[in-house]
Amino acid sequence: SPARAADGTATAPVVVAHRGASGYAPENTLAAVDKAAALGTAWVENDVQRTKDGELVVVHDDSLQRTTDVEEVFPDRAPWKVKDFTAAEIARLDAGGWFDPAYAGARVPTLEQFVHRVDQHRQKLLLEIKNPELYPGIERDILKVLDNEGWLDRAHVQQRLIVQSFSTDSVRTVHELKPEVKTGFLGTPPVADLPVYAAFADQINPSHSSLTAAYVSAVHGFEGAHGKRLETFTWTVNDAAAARRVAGFGVDGIITNRPDVVRDAVEG
Ligand code: G3P
Ligand code: CA
Repeated sequence: SPARAADGTATAPVVVAHRGASGYAPENTLAAVDKAAALGTAWVENDVQRTKDGELVVVHDDSLQRTTDVEEVFPDRAPWKVKDFTAAEIARLDAGGWFDPAYAGARVPTLEQFVHRVDQHRQKLLLEIKNPELYPGIERDILKVLDNEGWLDRAHVQQRLIVQSFSTDSVRTVHELKPEVKTGFLGTPPVADLPVYAAFADQINPSHSSLTAAYVSAVHGFEGAHGKRLETFTWTVNDAAAARRVAGFGVDGIITNRPDVVRDAVEG
């Protein structure tokens, strides 16, 4: 059944711009955050990794090859892993031209730049720790940047921040380091295992492709790490029919490259 407000009425799922509004602007750039804001999207998702010299940057793949011009700028550095480049080197790359020449000059943002822009727009952040096995200690580094940027104050942690990962260890580590921060586990654990996840996570965030109403109901039957109903945000839903389908299951959030399409489908 759909999510219910306190008075029992059904509520539409929140809409999350996946890697920013990445259907319309280059993923994980400030331009994609701006586009999400222009479309009125409350939440932005991103992917965080770490450079050779310890800077946190927002980029999806473990290599810079697909979403930047790194091959042209550093032809001898294959396979162009994020962890093998310094922040200064990454700052030279064009992260927009591959998507559309109109976005040439867009940069790979640092986490600091990214959260600053999300804050300027008064948006909320669904931060994904990507490939944490490559970056030992990245959870502590991320929390430090969030703290420096004012994202660990009461208003942010209660209303505007969720940290998620496909890595159980990473989600558990964040919960242990900063229990007040809401967390999400990316995946579809068996229902029998949900109590284990609910001990350190507030959300179970599955792919929409094999999602069922029964699974969403099962998730909602547990309390998450903060004593509230365990939630579920599903990904990556880019067309109206799929959005209506998962909204009918009662998901709490829909992560999408096309936030305008999803919002029209679930609120229209
Ligand atoms: O937010 C969930 C989704 O982003 C997970 O998949 O590969 O797009 O990071 P991916
Ligand atoms: Ca992601």
